[in-house]
Amino acid sequence: MKNSKIAGIGYYVPKNVVKNEDLARYMETSDEWIQERTGIKERRYVTKHEENNTILAAKASRVAIERAGINKEDIDFIIYATLSPDYYFPGCGVLLQRELGISKTEIGALDIRNQCSGFIYSLSIADQFIKSGMYKNILVVGSEVHSGGLDFTTRGRGVSVIFGDGAGAVVVQPADGKNRKILTTKLHSDGSDAEELAIINPGFHGGHWDEENIEKYGYEEASQEWGVPYVTEKMVKDGLCYPYMHGQNVFKMAVKKFPEVIIEALEDQGLAKENIDMLIPHQANIRISQFVQKTLGLSDDQVFNNIQKYGNTTAASIPIALCEAWEAGKIKEGDLVCLAAFGSGFTWGSALIRW
Ligand code: COA
Repeated sequence: MKNSKIAGIGYYVPKNVVKNEDLARYMETSDEWIQERTGIKERRYVTKHEENNTILAAKASRVAIERAGINKEDIDFIIYATLSPDYYFPGCGVLLQRELGISKTEIGALDIRNQCSGFIYSLSIADQFIKSGMYKNILVVGSEVHSGGLDFTTRGRGVSVIFGDGAGAVVVQPADGKNRKILTTKLHSDGSDAEELAIINPGFHGGHWDEENIEKYGYEEASQEWGVPYVTEKMVKDGLCYPYMHGQNVFKMAVKKFPEVIIEALEDQGLAKENIDMLIPHQANIRISQFVQKTLGLSDDQVFNNIQKYGNTTAASIPIALCEAWEAGKIKEGDLVCLAAFGSGFTWGSALIRW
């Protein structure tokens, strides 16, 4: 059974820089509040009428494919993680296949809906497919366009200031030597608090038909005898189609689960936290990253953060950060790289890579 490796990596962020001060023109917020609570100074939003989720993904993918030294026709499977797809269905995987101009290869395309942990889940799936010998060049993508789905009024400020657009991609291949291999991946979830960080609407939610939910989520009786409407006027009018986040609960769970899942991966490999050369945490919030860094006793040189520039790009944040860190020479051959994520679901996971 061959291990897998990341053979090529690329990212793309839109050119359009949106600073905290720009958001303050639409809602009651300030650069000071956002930086102090999240570390974010600016984020990128797609250029109107020109870009969407799949287009960002294709731009990142082309770089990853070229750096892997293969042609796009060599890709034999696509795994695409996003929470902000172009369409509710079909998923972005097939749209990316079309955007890259490889529809005729008729390869499989899988969409992953694990939000902030989406890239780690996708990488883990790719790793298993490579190990089983089923595929040889898997394109794994995390891409998000949050900017079209945020509430830019004061009502939505607790969520909207955090998220940004961008895409990252890797090509996963069988490993050929001692170095350059994915050592292990760990995946977890606990659905008890699924609504703590979620977009509930539009959705097929008739199974939770009680007074509280009818009011809270804007459900409505259907005019026919069956089902409930997927989208109602109240949902749109009251802003119930925007993301909801109970920030403090998310924070508390994140700072617990990040270190847990990192230690789990290290112990699995007989390694210790001192062995980590570079930790790339999902860029949720600078304070979460700093908390994790402190808990693990890592130095500033051992943790890479770029949330200051891009905000939280959910499934895209890890491949973007990994690529930037690698391009900046902060990750060298033989380094032990740890990826870790926590997010909506709740879901969380980690990956240990010998670079
Ligand atoms: N600008 C100014 N004020 C804001 C604001 C903004 N963008 N967003 C919220 N506020 C206000 C709130 O309305 C509240 O005002 P009030 O006290 O008058 O009611 C006050 O700031 C405090 O709100 P609260 O939600 O308690 O703030 P917080 O200290 O918990 O910080 C988060 C909010 C979201 C930054 C913080 O909870 C957090 O980082 N959570 C983790 C989120 C995360 O990482 N999510 C991604 C996971 S993948």
